Amino acid sequence: MAPLSISPDHPVVVLTGAGISKESGLSTFRDKDGIWSSVRIEDVATPEAFQRNPDAVHDFYNKRRRLLTEQHVEPNAAHYALVKLELAWPGGILVVTQNVDSLHEQAGSQNLIHMHGRHREARCNACDHVVAWKGDMSTEDVCEGCGERGGLRPNVVWFGETPMDMDLIEEALLGCGLFVSIGTSGNVYPAAGFVELVRKTHARAVELNLEPSQGAARFDITRYGPATEVVPAFVDDLIASLE
Ligand code: APR
Repeated sequence: MAPLSISPDHPVVVLTGAGISKESGLSTFRDKDGIWSSVRIEDVATPEAFQRNPDAVHDFYNKRRRLLTEQHVEPNAAHYALVKLELAWPGGILVVTQNVDSLHEQAGSQNLIHMHGRHREARCNACDHVVAWKGDMSTEDVCEGCGERGGLRPNVVWFGETPMDMDLIEEALLGCGLFVSIGTSGNVYPAAGFVELVRKTHARAVELNLEPSQGAARFDITRYGPATEVVPAFVDDLIASLE
């Protein structure tokens, strides 16, 4: 690897997208067999869709939530490589994921932000109470916070909503020495704009993906291939640079 000239004392921020979970058996969104090739975003992933037809939205998320358990979806070598980096990197790492699956935490990542929320949580539209949720969700469910029936929704960020913890993420991006984007097509903002923010600082930016993303030209270093290959190899190179 070309020398990164990054100080080990500087934190690393890693952004992940659906591509990192692909080899664990979960679909991406915009690949030709991706989720948005068979379902319309406007029908299942906006607040308006939930208002119009909550049953259809619940059905979509229930099916995806069931997959996580029924298919025994497990973290892969790329998720584990990020845990290895977290344990080894002196400056610390923050993983910011757009994924709503739990594979980073299952692998053991500690410093993790789910900017698009989590599949396995429900949030009440009436009182904002958040609760862990493993099974199906429906309009019959009652919020344990306020007792209201019918207001529970998946605790995920829909199109038109603001991603979670943006203040923390921006602060981390502005203070990092290295930004690594993994398995994301760079179609969805604000995540797609993180590389621009980082370019305003001294930090270096790396893209690891199956193919060049929308914003590939903005990265200092790019490596293309399946996440289970390119991520462990990159992490090993980074750790070797400490020696
Ligand atoms: N290894 C690495 N990258 C992969 C792999 C793989 N095995 N398989 C696919 N990819 C890449 C694709 O080439 C693509 O660039 O992962 C990327 C996935 O892109 P998207 O499907 O657009 O997923 P993502 O970028 O995470 O989407 C962002 O869009 O619909 C919303 O909320 C949803 O969080 C999601 C957001």
